[in-house]
Amino acid sequence: MSKPAIPLKTGAEIEIMDEANRIVWEVLDAVAAAVKPGVTTQALDDIAERECLRRGAVPSFKGYSGYPKSLCVSINDVIVHGIPSVRAIIREGDLVSVDFGVTWRGYCGDAALTVTVGEVDPGARRLVTVTRECLDRAVEQTRPGSTVGDIGNAVQTHAEENGFSVIRDFVGHGIGTRMHEPPQVPNFGRPGDGPELLEGMVLAIEPMVCEGGNGVSIDDDGWTARTNDGKMAAHFEFSVAVTSSGARILGLAGR
Ligand code: MF3
Ligand code: CO
Repeated sequence: MSKPAIPLKTGAEIEIMDEANRIVWEVLDAVAAAVKPGVTTQALDDIAERECLRRGAVPSFKGYSGYPKSLCVSINDVIVHGIPSVRAIIREGDLVSVDFGVTWRGYCGDAALTVTVGEVDPGARRLVTVTRECLDRAVEQTRPGSTVGDIGNAVQTHAEENGFSVIRDFVGHGIGTRMHEPPQVPNFGRPGDGPELLEGMVLAIEPMVCEGGNGVSIDDDGWTARTNDGKMAAHFEFSVAVTSSGARILGLAGR
């Protein structure tokens, strides 16, 4: 069996995806500004949904495989897919990862970041910095002629050189008219392995990095993904277009 084809986007489609991701980042800015001790993660979901709808976009996570909310809010040992709740309250010292996606004019945007709340443990702060650097290293590899393995290797190498581990149970992905398209974009790999990157591909690159081991367990809610050892995790995500001149991070022009 051959692998499913990786859809290529035209310049016009990439412009729409840039708009979609601009909306995602405007929403994430509003959410991040509201992350403070005492705030519930449900309040963050309310902000995300309101800021999305008032821009005329559709929150794409809600109803996706039965996911019940518009935003994912993943605190401390939660890696990804934390479900907003009125019972989950943000505290001083937390690492809070927020992940959001939209559909806009038939195309998807998807992005995430991790914010720190007040005084944070130095090791946890370093985890956030290194995870963000992993995303930069991945973007540096994103150009025609490099491979998905080059991206994964860049993330894995930088995380492991800093004494951290990368999650293997969840991966980044192609993105376009659907949130998840081929190829899978792991946060590990060997240089030169995997599909070659071509102009017009758009990838959601999303390093998920752990302070301790990379073992994962899922809560009884079927979504919340935690580290087995209870140590911290961080997550950043950009939707990135492969252009003739290299990577174009979507939605972030002028920042
Ligand atoms: N950014 C995540 C992803 O790429 C979020 C999906 S959450 C879901 O998979 F609920 F929509 F699945
Ligand atoms: Co994603």
